[in-house]
Amino acid sequence: MKGVILAGGLGTRLYPLTHVTNKHLLPVYNKPMIFYPIQTLVDAGITDIMIITSGPHVGHFLGTLKNGKELGVNHLEYAYQEKPDGGIADALAIAEDFADGQSIAVILGDNTTDADIKKPAANFKEGAVIFLKKVPDPQRFGVPAFDPKDKTKIARIDEKPEKPASDFAVTGLYIYDNKVFDYIRQCDPNFAGRNQLEITQVNNFYIQDKALRWEELKGFWSDAGTFNSLFTSSQFWAKKAEK
Ligand code: TTP
Repeated sequence: MKGVILAGGLGTRLYPLTHVTNKHLLPVYNKPMIFYPIQTLVDAGITDIMIITSGPHVGHFLGTLKNGKELGVNHLEYAYQEKPDGGIADALAIAEDFADGQSIAVILGDNTTDADIKKPAANFKEGAVIFLKKVPDPQRFGVPAFDPKDKTKIARIDEKPEKPASDFAVTGLYIYDNKVFDYIRQCDPNFAGRNQLEITQVNNFYIQDKALRWEELKGFWSDAGTFNSLFTSSQFWAKKAEK
């Protein structure tokens, strides 16, 4: 299985830090943010990786990551998202040629976790697997509404709902079969009123086709896209390094 890290976006919530460099190269404790999702993929045995990025500081990636060998990556490719805020699904669409008909593990470049996704990646055959985490502030995320008749199934996912149907967040880790690129072509930029192609709509397409499964992420997971989450993520990794 190949891996895709989405590191586009504008990182506006981290201005002025993201005037200096790309959000995903900012430090989370003692490493650039993007080292963490790379490590998650490499630990799962996924070493053929594409990084999709955008914005004014794209050149900084090459100098930081080089060919990825120091991080255990066998093959590292870079791609450029023309519209930096086109949405997560817009960024993922760029990986179609790289995926080459295969399944892909996808991680948002600002997500850090110590969870192990080796098993779900190794066991994956078709459809989609998403990873959920209980959070105190589900309003910030895609939120699953479970089927009242069968709580193991997700009936739909709401994007940043005012009244969340559960206290789970859809994290930024996903495993998709190659149908994901057809679903992205069906995405409507007005789905959540943000003129973006939303990964939540893609996940809802999989739900409609009864092809979406979910797992709860074990361990720490957080995005690092706000000052608060950047700070608490750094604190977590600093504490973990002490152990
Ligand atoms: P967001 O945090 O939703 O967006 P952002 O990174 O532009 O930040 P802000 O809202 O502060 O302006 O995106 C989460 C991750 O998804 C981000 O780390 C990178 C990825 N992403 C893309 O690759 N392309 C995109 O068009 C968007 C919106 C996000």
